[in-house]
Amino acid sequence: MTDSNDKAPKNRSAEWFGKADKDGFGHRSWMKNQGLPHHLFDGRPVIGICNTWSELTPCNAHFRTLAERVKRGVYEAGGFPLEFPVMSLGETLMRPTTMMFRNLVSMDVEESIRANPLDGVILLVGCDKTTPALLMGAASCDLPTLALSGGPMLNGRFRDQQIGSGTHVWKFDAMVKAGEMTLQDFMEAESCMSRSIGHCMTMGTASTMASMVEALGMGLPANAAIPAADSRRNVLAHMAGQRIVEMVREDLRMSKVLTRQAFENAIRTNGAIGGSTNAVVHLLAIAGRMGVDLNLEDWDRLGVEVPCLVNLMPSGEFLMEDFYYAGGLPAVLRELGEHGLLHKDALTVNGRTMWDNVAEAPNWNREVIFALDAPFKPEGGIVVLRGNLAPGGAVLKPSASTPELMQHKGRAVVFEDIDDYKARIDDPGLDIDASCVMVLKNCGPKGYPGMAEVGNMALPQKILKQGVEDMVRISDARMSGTAYGTVVLHTAPEAAAGGPLALVQNGDIIELDVKGRRLHLDVGDAELDKRRAAWISAAPVNERGYAKLYQDHVMQADQGCDLDFLVGKSGAVVPRESH
Ligand code: FES
Repeated sequence: MTDSNDKAPKNRSAEWFGKADKDGFGHRSWMKNQGLPHHLFDGRPVIGICNTWSELTPCNAHFRTLAERVKRGVYEAGGFPLEFPVMSLGETLMRPTTMMFRNLVSMDVEESIRANPLDGVILLVGCDKTTPALLMGAASCDLPTLALSGGPMLNGRFRDQQIGSGTHVWKFDAMVKAGEMTLQDFMEAESCMSRSIGHCMTMGTASTMASMVEALGMGLPANAAIPAADSRRNVLAHMAGQRIVEMVREDLRMSKVLTRQAFENAIRTNGAIGGSTNAVVHLLAIAGRMGVDLNLEDWDRLGVEVPCLVNLMPSGEFLMEDFYYAGGLPAVLRELGEHGLLHKDALTVNGRTMWDNVAEAPNWNREVIFALDAPFKPEGGIVVLRGNLAPGGAVLKPSASTPELMQHKGRAVVFEDIDDYKARIDDPGLDIDASCVMVLKNCGPKGYPGMAEVGNMALPQKILKQGVEDMVRISDARMSGTAYGTVVLHTAPEAAAGGPLALVQNGDIIELDVKGRRLHLDVGDAELDKRRAAWISAAPVNERGYAKLYQDHVMQADQGCDLDFLVGKSGAVVPRESH
């Protein structure tokens, strides 16, 4: 039961499979009921394939095939692959929101890895929250780990136009409400949007997080953009399987890849791709697990100077399939590197530096991937706003906003929660005009609970019918990465935690000044104190189960919304025997 290389450090899995005693018998014998030959237990690296496959997660429904390809690569490199399931998070079906379960899945991943005889792990990630959840859980174990994204869907196509996941749902919905599209056409478009395996093919949260995987160095080059239906996605899975075995032999642990430099590369990359605001909370949470000191200000400081280079929906016109043909993320990383915006020597999972991987990356289409000195949009990053309305900070994505609204003063129209918003938004008697500021409360981490993606609340029908497409909106919620608008999100502290957002009343004047990074409620301190004394939380209270654990322990958005007791890592120390 020894590794073929006698000088190699003993693998963790040897604590289970390497013993010639009663315990070793038990660990091997039951595994052999799967038809596994004895030589697989000879001390070779055991690779866990952490699979978020589920038919309830359509974006990850092809992951069984992907796992089989990973296994081929693992076997080829002399490893022993073992696939295991973890809870999957399907963005489109789960209620109240997948974000509430991100931390639960991270616990599932962490404990599944630590409890089992694994030496290295491949994370199969795709739909929005599956990526951060698996990275967070694995980070707390710190084994050699490689993340493999499932890939985006092929471009959506409705008659003669390209349509993008999510982005066109918002667009078509507004058109139906404005009387510019029939309900029949709306229904037909739904089959045209999702026409292949894979996740959302806009630069939404899933594609953003797949890009973060690559920019962090946690995935192989080209991880972000190869379409799920392209046979080269299966090749990438095969190569990932090969590589993870080598990573175990090299003891290339996650902590050697996920350094401060890696996170800085990821933040700048998020700016260059016009990525989702959701990346802010996810990267903060992953950094928290890894013990890397990252904060909200880093997003503004590092990312805001980076212009948006990619012309992809929701900010632009193309889709992930086009992005792949144009050169994908390596072409973007090369642009950053050539302009001093990349830590070139950051280590990646293939054992090479970031610059080794991307220095020669070609750009085949400048209409899709622009040059940094002639960018697609001047501001790609995420702006952090502060003021008496958001002492803990709030975020806004300039590339998805209307330039004329980024300096705006308006009268607040307040919705106490999402039900209040739904009940009144299309009431013809609602006192609102296009210059107002829509305020939505109680949609933050504790308040919803789970911080739902409702921050880009649709405009009132009567405003849409005037041809108005955007208004300033402020909430403690998140926004789908496929959405757009002048939307202030993640306001901290949230209303349910007693943040100033809870004190806003109809008619208050709110000032948004993106250039000055200011979000100001024009109400005097004495009046605010009076309102604070009378404030009663309107957030729902959960008395049991995971929802209670979540509400009791979730941290605010500026800290990544992790549970307070999950921050940091325990490593992969082998637990004691159970018998
Ligand atoms: Fe799964 Fe968009 S719904 S990635």
